[in-house]
Amino acid sequence: MWGGRFRGAAHKVMETINASISFDKHLWRQDIEASKVHVAMLQAQNIIDDEAAQKISNGLDKIETEFERDGIVENPALEDIHMHVESRLAELIGPDAGRLHTARSRNDQVTTDLRLFVREACDEANSLLVAFQEALLDRAEEHAETIMPGFTHLQSGQPVTLGHHLLAYFEMAVRDRSRFADARNRMNQCPLGAAALAGTSYPIDRDMTAQALGFDSPCRNSIDAVSDRDFALDYVMAASACALHLSRLAEEIIIWASQPYGFVKLPDAWSTGSSIMPQKRNPDAAELVRGHAGRILGALVSMATMLKGLPLAYAKDLQNDKPPLFEARELLTLCLEAMRGMVTDLEFVPEAMLEAARAGHATATDLADWLVREQGVPFREAHHIAGTAVAAAEGKGVALEELSIDDLQAIDGRLDEAALQVLGVESSVASRTSFGGTAPDQVRAQIKAAREYLKS
Ligand code: ARG
Repeated sequence: MWGGRFRGAAHKVMETINASISFDKHLWRQDIEASKVHVAMLQAQNIIDDEAAQKISNGLDKIETEFERDGIVENPALEDIHMHVESRLAELIGPDAGRLHTARSRNDQVTTDLRLFVREACDEANSLLVAFQEALLDRAEEHAETIMPGFTHLQSGQPVTLGHHLLAYFEMAVRDRSRFADARNRMNQCPLGAAALAGTSYPIDRDMTAQALGFDSPCRNSIDAVSDRDFALDYVMAASACALHLSRLAEEIIIWASQPYGFVKLPDAWSTGSSIMPQKRNPDAAELVRGHAGRILGALVSMATMLKGLPLAYAKDLQNDKPPLFEARELLTLCLEAMRGMVTDLEFVPEAMLEAARAGHATATDLADWLVREQGVPFREAHHIAGTAVAAAEGKGVALEELSIDDLQAIDGRLDEAALQVLGVESSVASRTSFGGTAPDQVRAQIKAAREYLKS
């Protein structure tokens, strides 16, 4: 393809280190699509004649069918997907194939292909996130009243509803979707026509190609167009944030499924057994979501490091953008599908959650709040009195709500029968009616608003 000034052949290692076909073959659809648009533009601008344009276009159609049917025969000497397509085109239509590369370079070609890929990846992440959100909403609705311990420091803090807890992940997914939408919006400019770096002297129509490929406009600066990969970085950053959220949920599922908790039972579909311990039911899928998040973060670090310190414009380092990007997309897709499936199929155990919520003296704050509200006690003092009540319950080996009225009176004369009422986890949860709070009525209101958002 560029042998004019070369006499010797490439060293075997040179060929191997240079070749990217083993991974950039995944871009074959985008590459053919962009080439078809390019050739139509060359024809419309009279840069190549109708006959050559037709031959090229038909040849590209044929290659598309072949690749779809037979896959790609990889030849490292042809370096990358762009040269594989062009070389096959030459086999099919002869020397006119050489006209396709007029007024473009692999530099603008590869980044055009990649933007098409990233745009699709953003759209895919968005629809998978919608499905994940729907699953969360369904389970939240089912468990709007189910009581569980709410944790801080993984210590029982205050009782909450499971529906409320699940809605927390819904909110994270709202922001994840907006990050993908931002990335998509920002990247949707077309590099094609930037050529090697300086633009071209042919009378090309960049608006035509940009529009035909679904971009909002052509990239404004040809040097920037061929040299930056921040659009891919934006995607991987959004993917990382999303993967971190999924990993936190995965971690909770792993904890909840362990025997001392027993908050959930893992369905067969999402667990594996042990070859030695017959009783085992392991949360492998959740563990792999947690593990994959690390690899997606690795992709981000790898791509950012590649860009750091790279002088303008194109350098071959940029070829290394693809393996981490492809891996991040593949892993994120798997993680989103797996988490959606687990959320849908998990069997929650409300009795175990309720028991745990009762066990942790998690209504001590309610007792302090009651003293403030009903008896006008300053909060700091009320906090101290409630702490004494916790110590008394611990001393007797009972839950806070199992203390007798005599026990309470002995701690502070202002604690009466009504104080005992607020110690139940049900009343605690029902009282937290502030906007965004855990009360079942609030949760139902949040679910209603969330359904509206999903429709919009
Ligand atoms: N395979 C190359 C890449 O992915 C295509 C661009 C090659 N350009 C060049 N000037 N060698 O980056």
